[in-house]
Amino acid sequence: MSEPISIPSLVTEKKEKYESLLPQIHALVEGERDLIANLANIMSALKYGLNFFWVGIYFVKNEELVLGPFQGPVACVRIGYGKGVCGTCWKKAETIVVPDVDAFPGHIACSSESKSEITVPVFKNEKVVAVIDVDSHILNDFDSTDAHYLENISKLIETLL
Ligand code: SME
Repeated sequence: MSEPISIPSLVTEKKEKYESLLPQIHALVEGERDLIANLANIMSALKYGLNFFWVGIYFVKNEELVLGPFQGPVACVRIGYGKGVCGTCWKKAETIVVPDVDAFPGHIACSSESKSEITVPVFKNEKVVAVIDVDSHILNDFDSTDAHYLENISKLIETLL
């Protein structure tokens, strides 16, 4: 049985939360080779560790993004290249921070509760093969700290593919 993810209640700074969470996520996937199981656990650890509204991963499949393991309310299954925040992240092959989803042209609203968003590409052989998507119910909830640590998670996922 795996250990529950825990972040000491005294830890309030986002950077410290990620610092506490990251080794636990690495430990969670260590020794387990099943990709879906590992991704499901990573998404759960991020959602509940950092209290996000929605955390998931979309995979590039046949020229579109298709929903993979996630934690949160049901979401859009397919997203085209260059469409929405996720499709733009795929096209630009870079992390995108969206402080206000309503101000992002073409944003795809899976839930009206999502207010801000960050998307991070996952690479394999220098090509984008997946996009990590995190939504918050708070406006302007993401910054360079999230980008830094989620890019770290992206690199971990790359090693699992
Ligand atoms: N908002 C995303 C769609 C995915 S959901 O947020 C889970 C987008 O614009 O691509």
